[in-house]
Amino acid sequence: SIDVSSLTKQSGLTALDYGFVNTASTRSAITYIDGNEGILRYRGYPIEQLAQNSTYLEVAWLLIYGELPTADELGAFDERIRRHTLLHEDLKRFFSALPHTAHPMSVLSSAVSALSTYYEDTSDPENPDHVEMTTMRLLAKLPVIAAYAHKKSVGQAFLYPDNSLSFVDNFLRLNFGNLAEPYEIDPTLSKALDRLLILHEDHEQNASTSTVRLVGSTGANLYASISAGINALYGPLHGGANEAVLQMLARIQDSGESVAKFVERVKNKEDGVKLMGFGHRVYKNYDPRAKLVKESADAVLAGLGVNDPLLDLAKELEQIALEDDYFKERRLYPNVDFYTGVIYKAMGFPTRMFTVLFAIGRLPGWIAHWREMNADPATKIGRPQQLYTGAGERQFPQR
Ligand code: ACO
Repeated sequence: SIDVSSLTKQSGLTALDYGFVNTASTRSAITYIDGNEGILRYRGYPIEQLAQNSTYLEVAWLLIYGELPTADELGAFDERIRRHTLLHEDLKRFFSALPHTAHPMSVLSSAVSALSTYYEDTSDPENPDHVEMTTMRLLAKLPVIAAYAHKKSVGQAFLYPDNSLSFVDNFLRLNFGNLAEPYEIDPTLSKALDRLLILHEDHEQNASTSTVRLVGSTGANLYASISAGINALYGPLHGGANEAVLQMLARIQDSGESVAKFVERVKNKEDGVKLMGFGHRVYKNYDPRAKLVKESADAVLAGLGVNDPLLDLAKELEQIALEDDYFKERRLYPNVDFYTGVIYKAMGFPTRMFTVLFAIGRLPGWIAHWREMNADPATKIGRPQQLYTGAGERQFPQR
């Protein structure tokens, strides 16, 4: 790779690269991907080892601070996050102003944006203490906001966080607990969700992370940058694909259309129909995260006592696609979103919450990138060029 930033400036050359297919926007030491080999590492550690042995919070520390934490560091980090889970009561009322039909991703991005109104005095991007405080607040409060978005959509009361519980158990209780009875912890559920969150924690310069960096490059605070990242994640070509996969599977099931017929329609690009959860800009091999999610799907559904025909349908779809020349030639494989929805559904989350779960997973990566960008003296405001294709100068008509 070559650094064209000074070269193009001197020569007056402009590189046109729709979708930034060949353009690196930054140097980064956080995540390594080899798309041809299907390799993903956070700070050098293979994703398979982290998913097997670590926890969401430990990986969050790793991404943000660059090394695995000691037991003391992790304990203090966990404790600090637990202390920041409460939302201001006024912010809780903010949810009542929104319709119960609101998509939880819109609720999430709006509420995160609103967070900066409460903590304006500690959100100076140039002040390391402010950045540290904002990091803790976001990690602590995003899951609470997410659970309230869920409760709001089903018309149930919000619970206060129970900070004696672990990060994931607290989140599950806020989603599925109620005021009438104690919440019973299911270790299968907690372990499975923690593992899925780890798999989503970072993925270098994807659309939402690039958005966080672009917004952050203007000097905007972390809340504003993360809120923008959530909006970028919302789209069905990015994080929204997990919701779209389940909708696609349900449509195939309800219509009675055969899987082979559906795949034919995808290949013929009928009405722009795509095989959601398939294909990736970087992976031209099986997405290593998808491999791990697929392995989990059977075990988690069995552990939760759920038998969902949509899982069989997804497997049939994958099988047919992987043997088909259209997908082979274009090197299209299942991505992380292909099997996650079936697991989230078995856990009891409504489809519209799936991308919200992705956002909680991705938050540490967004924060790590924002902080890396702010600490890098080479950072400049992100400002792409364009090739103008409009009219030449013309005169406004005399009237
Ligand atoms: N179904 C059918 N055809 C596809 C699919 C798909 N899912 N993905 C790509 N293709 C085809 C394209 O139509 C194109 O075909 P052509 O050469 O005949 O024109 C070819 O494969 C290359 O695809 P591009 O769109 O150029 O690939 P790009 O890198 O721009 O897009 C993307 C990647 C957006 C992920 C795409 O594969 C897609 O839309 N997938 C479905 C949505 C999805 O699952 N998104 C989640 C991605 S992972 C994540 O963000 C967490």
